[in-house]
Amino acid sequence: MSTWILLLLVALYFLYTRSAQGSTTSQLIGTTCPELTGLKIVKGQPVNVRQGRVVVEFWATWCPPCRTSIPHLTQLAKKYGISMIGVTNETDEAAIKAFVDGQRDKMDYTVAMDRTLAVSNGLMKASGLRGIPCAFIIEHGVIVWHGYVMQPEFEERLAVPLGAPPQEKTDTTAPPSGPYCDDKACYM
Ligand SMILES: *[C@@H]1O[C@H](CO)[C@@H](O)[C@H](O)[C@H]1NC(C)=O
Repeated sequence: MSTWILLLLVALYFLYTRSAQGSTTSQLIGTTCPELTGLKIVKGQPVNVRQGRVVVEFWATWCPPCRTSIPHLTQLAKKYGISMIGVTNETDEAAIKAFVDGQRDKMDYTVAMDRTLAVSNGLMKASGLRGIPCAFIIEHGVIVWHGYVMQPEFEERLAVPLGAPPQEKTDTTAPPSGPYCDDKACYM
């Protein structure tokens, strides 16, 4: 086998293992977050991904690391004043409700069922991420980070002060320079 093929295989291996982790960037970073459609809210208020900083987290009742991270998510939402939504693709509404009610104020953020899978498809599937609990941070409507919720990078990003929303593009046509006249007046 030539050295080049060997190098290529090594490179592919690294690419593969990197993409299997949660925090590596995908093509979704920097893109507009799709509207959260088709959700059935189980607890709390709907969130608006177009406004401020929002966390969309994917979890399931059967996932031990998801259950472990619930109090951590609640704490982060409170500490940084972030609107957060935990989305599950499970379908047994009674079981989900019972679980969420049982968590009481340990799970103090919006929880929703992804009935149509539109949100999972638009974020999890589109990013190629498979592991949960997985969070997406959205700022002013743009996806800026995704990864596992227990990674220090998650909180590090939440701790960064949220910048102002990008300005609407204003009329950039430069005013005519120098004195000029239209049919009403002359301008200096
Ligand atoms: C639901 O989510 C889990 C965890 O991400 C995933 O493995 C599974 O394929 C999803 N089910 C559907 C129907 O999308």
